[in-house]
Amino acid sequence: MRILLIVILGGLLPAGASLAQDIDAGRKVAGICRTCHGLDGFARIPIAPHIGGEPAAYIETQLRAFRDGSREHEMMTVVASSLSDQQIADAAAWYNHFDVTATLPAGENPDDAPELCSTCHGSNGISEMPDVPNLAGETNIYLETQLKAFRNGKRNHDIMSPIATELDDKGMQTAADWYSAITINITDPTKPN
Ligand code: HEC
Ligand code: HEC
Repeated sequence: MRILLIVILGGLLPAGASLAQDIDAGRKVAGICRTCHGLDGFARIPIAPHIGGEPAAYIETQLRAFRDGSREHEMMTVVASSLSDQQIADAAAWYNHFDVTATLPAGENPDDAPELCSTCHGSNGISEMPDVPNLAGETNIYLETQLKAFRNGKRNHDIMSPIATELDDKGMQTAADWYSAITINITDPTKPN
């Protein structure tokens, strides 16, 4: 299973060389993002996801998807349409450079994490793979909206679409409840606390 996953995920990495990323330039781009995602990627509004510490490849893929219309959202479509490839690469480097840690609610056992999801998203909602997003601490509404979008075809992905198609509303709720109950902490490793 593990090897299969690596092959699948490996196949999804974008072809072609990626642009050199500049964290400082990304901080400037993040000025456009901060009202919703915070400068540190800890979301300031419930419908926006936390993006601090997300894999850079994932952030880039999503910004490109919003820009080319394959993922749609009234706010992000507008934001992404104004970004150059370089700004996308820099913003991804900026938000990726944060450390994110996740804590399960007291008394929860990691073994009770939704089994179908934890292989890729971790039992604590922190991904260990470059193209897989963190789910820890995202709101219930965000998680369920995304799962439904994969299920109804509004959002498409080789791996997530078939998984979401297998889930009923109850299954989505259970997974969303698990990951939204996790507390996250985002810190800047380049700054002493
Ligand atoms: C006006 C608010 C707003 C601004 C400004 C904004 N975003 Fe977003 N962003 C959102 C919302 C809302 C979503 C969730 C979209 C959805 O439900 O599909 C989102 C989603 C994303 C995602 C997808 C994350 C995931 O987990 O799939 C990324 C990446 C992202 N934004 C990056 C950025 C960057 C980088 C900027 C600045 C250049 C930015 N956003 C500016 C509101 C905003
Ligand atoms: C084989 C690996 C794999 C498994 C198993 C998996 N996912 Fe995913 N998941 C992904 C990848 C890759 C993405 C990114 C999709 C994209 O690029 O649009 C993703 C995206 C998501 C998103 C969107 C997150 C965001 O920030 O927008 C949600 C929600 C999600 N998965 C929930 C689940 C749930 C719930 C399960 C279990 C029922 C699950 N996933 C199982 C690989 C996986």
